[in-house]
Amino acid sequence: MTHGARVVAIYPGSFDPITNGHLDVIERGSKLFDRLIVSILHNESKSPLFSVLERAEMLRESVRPFGNVEIDSFQGLLADYALRKNARVILRGIRAVSDYEYELQMALMNRRLQPQVETVFLLAGEAFSFISSKLVKEVISLGGSVAGLVPPLVEKRLRERLRAPESLQQELLTT
Ligand code: PNS
Repeated sequence: MTHGARVVAIYPGSFDPITNGHLDVIERGSKLFDRLIVSILHNESKSPLFSVLERAEMLRESVRPFGNVEIDSFQGLLADYALRKNARVILRGIRAVSDYEYELQMALMNRRLQPQVETVFLLAGEAFSFISSKLVKEVISLGGSVAGLVPPLVEKRLRERLRAPESLQQELLTT
């Protein structure tokens, strides 16, 4: 991006679990940046469906085709983590106008915390604009198909996990 320096970008998120929308942003990002670190936030307060280790495993498998993409996890402030990783860019995907307000707030806060780190937004392909991890979990738990919306491995893991008793499913879905 500048004077031949290698540009490292962080793509942060919950990825609970990764969807084909995330994967589309990762593929686009991998072509723009020299190194792309997909990083999972450790945030147990969100009561995730999958542990960080499980999410990392699914991500690692899914990004295998992209040679410059790696998987990591972080705790604390994203802006500080980006600096520790020597990343100049935070990558975020935008699906629709509804994403914009939250993303704008985060980007401006991160800029205030670490002015040297820029947030770059990429548009996921329009075919992915309605996909979210939350909806995918809901559809699977109610017996619907999410084929084409998540990598096949993720679909399998979701089916295994959401075959839990109904009461537990409800608990997982409200998070
Ligand atoms: O996939 P998500 O849940 O939309 O990702 C949100 C994420 C992980 C990017 C955001 O919650 C985050 O950066 N959390 C780290 C804590 C932090 O830096 N908070 C201030 C951000 S403005």
